[in-house]
Amino acid sequence: MIEFILNNHDITTDLPSGMTVLDFVRYRQNLKGTKIGCREGDCGACTILVGELVDEKVRYRSMTSCLMPLANAAGKHIVTIEGINPEDGSLTPVQQAMVDESGTQCGFCTIGFVMSLTGHCLSSGDRVSSTHVSRGSCSDLETAISAIDGNICRCTGYKSIERAAMRLSEPPASAGDQKADEKSPYVPTYFSNISSRIKSLRKATQSIPEETGRPLTPAVPTFVAGGTDTYVQKPDFFTENESDHLFYDDDLRGIRDLGDYIEIGASTTVTDLLETPVMNAIFPDLYKHLKLVSSTPIRNMATLAGNFVNASPIGDMTVWFLALDSSILMSSPPYEGGVAEGRGGSLTREIPLADFYLGYKQLAKSDDEIITAVRFKKPFGDFRFNFEKVCKRTYLDIASVNTAISLKLYEEGPPVPEILRSKVTDQRSKIELAHVSAGGVAPIPLYLRKTSAFLIDKEVSEETIDLAIEIIQDEISPISDVRGSDDYKRLLLRQLFRAHFVEMFPDMK
Ligand SMILES: Cc1cc2nc3c(=O)[nH]c(=O)nc-3n(C[C@H](O)[C@H](O)[C@H](O)COP(=O)(O)OP(=O)(O)OC[C@H]3O[C@@H](n4cnc5c(N)ncnc54)[C@H](O)[C@@H]3O)c2cc1C
Ligand code: FES
Ligand code: FES
Repeated sequence: MIEFILNNHDITTDLPSGMTVLDFVRYRQNLKGTKIGCREGDCGACTILVGELVDEKVRYRSMTSCLMPLANAAGKHIVTIEGINPEDGSLTPVQQAMVDESGTQCGFCTIGFVMSLTGHCLSSGDRVSSTHVSRGSCSDLETAISAIDGNICRCTGYKSIERAAMRLSEPPASAGDQKADEKSPYVPTYFSNISSRIKSLRKATQSIPEETGRPLTPAVPTFVAGGTDTYVQKPDFFTENESDHLFYDDDLRGIRDLGDYIEIGASTTVTDLLETPVMNAIFPDLYKHLKLVSSTPIRNMATLAGNFVNASPIGDMTVWFLALDSSILMSSPPYEGGVAEGRGGSLTREIPLADFYLGYKQLAKSDDEIITAVRFKKPFGDFRFNFEKVCKRTYLDIASVNTAISLKLYEEGPPVPEILRSKVTDQRSKIELAHVSAGGVAPIPLYLRKTSAFLIDKEVSEETIDLAIEIIQDEISPISDVRGSDDYKRLLLRQLFRAHFVEMFPDMK
């Protein structure tokens, strides 16, 4: 049984938990405003808002309903275009801006744009942009434009839609840092008591009574988190079969500073990372880097474990965490109590992320093991990090080649034998620790072991970079495919490795 609020209605359903929210709203609720375009998360025509109670406030995020299982709606407020229309028949500020700026023609995409911009206006948490952290309202143009990065329009042209977003950056007087149970000018009045209504909902799905005869339970356990990979690869299978839904499992969420380590729950999304002060404090370029990963609605759904387990050789988050020398924690059955009651008490092991990939899509993990968290050593001292990605287009595309690097420089210089001390001058530009990773250049996301080892105790210099590039070329084995030829990918990685140093050491001669 799944309970949630759909617009202003309470829903209790025993439909299969793997059915997509898109099919539920269109075919079971006859809400045809939400459109079907690609069914692959690419076009944004099916965008909805998902409200979750966080610290007594409802936090709304845009998601693509075509990839979202009904299970992930449990305990949430699901908002379709029908749910934001004002009761008096007028237009919301977002709808009005689209009209005033001629942001629509055939209208097929318009719903998605309106939902994404409304979600942007409703966000009440800290919002990070390249220049600052803002709170609430639509007043940040950069993040307003970024909110529609997952929406495609084929006939209007983006300039008028961007003008509509710009218009929203002058918020109505009553907009701002919205509290729970406080009226927002962007949505109808019933939103103001959603937080109290959510509290009375059952959070997790409950098993479906046997007599309904559905859904099927596959022989091998299947896990679904955000659904952005599973529902693209095998939509029918995941719709028809019973899976273990991990997206909103509290035991698998959260970013914890454990002193020596940072530990991040497996179901943490890319957006969660982006909005967390702990991560922004360690990685000043986090926004610049993670904006290169998919689009806003996909980042709102895409989890770290999903990225690791889908084992794409170009998985951005995998390459990112490989360069932090991360390890992953995994649990096997017997789970004590299942998802709803937590994973505590299960058998746990920890392995380096670099050892997780055995071959193309082959993992050092049994079918019934789940990843519970990823952890990496908390950086200290003179720490540098960079991530680079080249795609056929800058945003909403997977990489041809991606790469990340973390370096720690000696504070004092490496230990020098007594006899050489008078000859050694400044050692601080020497590398104490180095981890380099690359994607798209091998059958697996690659931790470049030899290159990383080579960099240790080396001076940061052109000569070191040139020598490291030679080692990299030996470590990789790219193939020619639609994303580029073998030679092109070798050239890309060479240039991206140089780019790391340009970014990390802008003053390097
Ligand atoms: C339009 C679009 C754009 C994309 N762009 C990018 C991009 O730019 N960069 C990129 O790297 N990826 C991209 N992706 C791929 C995808 O979004 C990511 O790989 C994402 O991180 C997958 O996470 P998920 O939670 O949605 O995975 P799911 O689809 O829920 O699961 C993926 C796999 O992980 C398994 N799994 C999930 N959680 C666990 C767990 N805790 N333990 C064990 N197994 C688990 C599932 O069983 C499944 O095999 C894109 C996808 C789409 C649809
Ligand atoms: S239908 Fe295109 S993103 Fe969902
Ligand atoms: S208005 Fe027609 S696709 Fe955007």
